[in-house]
Amino acid sequence: MDKEAGKKRAAEEAATHVERGMTLGLGTGSTAKYFVEVMGARISEGWSLRGIPTSEVTRRQAEQVGIEIITPDETTIIDLAIDGTDEADPSLNLIKGGGGALLREKIIANAARKFIVIADKSKRVAALGAFPLPVEVEPFSWALTVSQLREVLTEYGYQNPVLKLRAAAGEAFNSDGGNLIIDCALGRIDNPANLDKSLVEIPGVIETGLFCGMTDLIIYGGGDGISTERG
Ligand code: A5P
Repeated sequence: MDKEAGKKRAAEEAATHVERGMTLGLGTGSTAKYFVEVMGARISEGWSLRGIPTSEVTRRQAEQVGIEIITPDETTIIDLAIDGTDEADPSLNLIKGGGGALLREKIIANAARKFIVIADKSKRVAALGAFPLPVEVEPFSWALTVSQLREVLTEYGYQNPVLKLRAAAGEAFNSDGGNLIIDCALGRIDNPANLDKSLVEIPGVIETGLFCGMTDLIIYGGGDGISTERG
């Protein structure tokens, strides 16, 4: 089974956790896209669902399939957030942000009553870090922030890590919030929760793509079916 089929299978399984009338946090990326598609099918069957999209791309898709879009300011209750991931370790810590939506994704995952991650099985890793860690930073002082990131990373034992300003079509990539992303190629991350705290303490760092202690359930889709891990 190819990766796309695994993503789709995970998205379909996640849909079994959705009930009529729920307010959903809608993730971003190719796996979350399958989930939004399935929610569109529920809408066609007469369900009502409200969604808070974590990116403009997801907002457009969710609107097209008929999900009622609300902003985070319009509710204090998000019943369930569903999103993909770039990596997940056995303790359900994640690296996210490959699509550049990490800040909104983290806000919504953290606020939701339940956070379910969907992924094809290739996303499961023994330890995080083969995927470069995205860090969202303020444009005003980004170069200064990069040098401070280097200092903290050196304290964590990373010698000369490669930190790259994310680019798209030859220009600096801007997140939906207008911020920049620094992709940090670190290799193995032994204590993601501590690293996350230390990086977020740097003025200029808005968020990191480390999602620690947030995931309630991961659903992996693959050729041999679905497997799940609970937090
Ligand atoms: C978006 O910023 C990311 O966090 C995505 O959720 C993550 O990159 C997973 O994307 P795919 O489902 O496309 O692999």
